[in-house]
Amino acid sequence: MPLFHPIHHTFAPHVNAGYVLRTLGLLFQPWKWEEGSEREALRSALAQKFDADVFLFASGREALAALFKALKGPPHAEVIVQAYTCVVVPNAIHAASKTPVYADIERESLNLSVEDVERRLTPRTQAIICQHTFGIPSDTHKLRALCDRYGLLLIEDCAHVIPDESGPATIGKDGDFLLFSFGRDKAISGITGGAILSRRPDVSVRLTAEEGAAASLSLLQIKRLLLYPLVYAIARPLYGIGLGKGLLILARTLGALVPILTKEEKQGCMSPTLHRLPNVCAALALGELKRLRKINDHRRKLTALYLSEIHNQLSTFHFPLSTVTNRQITIPKSIHASLPLQKFPLFVHGANVLRHALKKRNIHLNDGWTGCVVCPAGTALDEVSYKRGLDPEAEQACEQILSLPTHPTMTERDAKRLIETLTSFKDDP
Ligand SMILES: Cc1ncc(COP(=O)(O)O)c(C=O)c1O
Repeated sequence: MPLFHPIHHTFAPHVNAGYVLRTLGLLFQPWKWEEGSEREALRSALAQKFDADVFLFASGREALAALFKALKGPPHAEVIVQAYTCVVVPNAIHAASKTPVYADIERESLNLSVEDVERRLTPRTQAIICQHTFGIPSDTHKLRALCDRYGLLLIEDCAHVIPDESGPATIGKDGDFLLFSFGRDKAISGITGGAILSRRPDVSVRLTAEEGAAASLSLLQIKRLLLYPLVYAIARPLYGIGLGKGLLILARTLGALVPILTKEEKQGCMSPTLHRLPNVCAALALGELKRLRKINDHRRKLTALYLSEIHNQLSTFHFPLSTVTNRQITIPKSIHASLPLQKFPLFVHGANVLRHALKKRNIHLNDGWTGCVVCPAGTALDEVSYKRGLDPEAEQACEQILSLPTHPTMTERDAKRLIETLTSFKDDP
């Protein structure tokens, strides 16, 4: 059975038996789908935990777009964003008629280089978004100091990580605004959803208006969202024998699944309509927020396991793959065992060849964060204002990155199987 069971990043990573039962329970209570007490309960829990005003939307990207609309500022105000990011981030900046300005990343943290941010400042700069990539903390202390010196706003993009009482202690402390995502593969999952947390009362007033004016998702759309955990719970264990893939293709063809990203978004477009967070997604996200410590501890355990296994077994490996010459694995230096990583990144030349070889063993490591600096691969870079060659470090990193899963349904056994499979490639990829 373990060979049928896929190792993956994206096949409903939060969906275990408990999640399926909670979703089934909610599927049969349609009166709770749009409205109910859970949305306000989620709002209060986040407000209390992060000491900020909380505004809830149907996705992280919509929450971010609402913030940019609420920030006002001069036309084409500039927002600094890191080069290695997701297309929905520059799209949300453009949606409010602002301009994304890319700053370099540091390879050892996959986060903003503070020195390069300072070089990119102009009189039009309004805000800096720091992304805690895959849960690696960005240097918010230095960025806060920079923002204070130049009168800028600091937005912490916490889509990949929500800190708990064990940390990471610096995340969520210094930002004027925090962004959370409750997307299906993020820190916690409400299937979809997002929040912007504001510590600026003047902006909170305008965000209240943005949330108040947001449209509701249709009941059909909500039903499609609720089908996602159920379809994957059936398809996932059947993936290794081909049936699972067939079932997913069928579900997509019948329109039963909502895509994470549309073709238009990859072309740099975002719909101007913002939506309220459906109460049912708030209910699922709230359930996960209550289990945050457990979810993060699981991620910490897998982070520690990968670190030690890679040091012990893989760091001196030279994979005999294709024409690549230097094939040694390296780990970004900022990673340590106590981080609740959303995924564990490592660098290896020929990462794509490895991913292909792994796929044949029912190990699916394409997470959408490879092959393009503004992810996923195939994003129209011109449309998102990224000029090729701007950040060679990021362009190289996204080619060499191979990320290992740490999500709630990835077991220690799976992690060991993954390392064993990688180890076996030493002789025969
Ligand atoms: C870094 C980052 N920020 C923001 C978002 C937006 O999250 P959502 O998928 O909820 O719109 C994403 C994911 O798409 C992301 O990866």
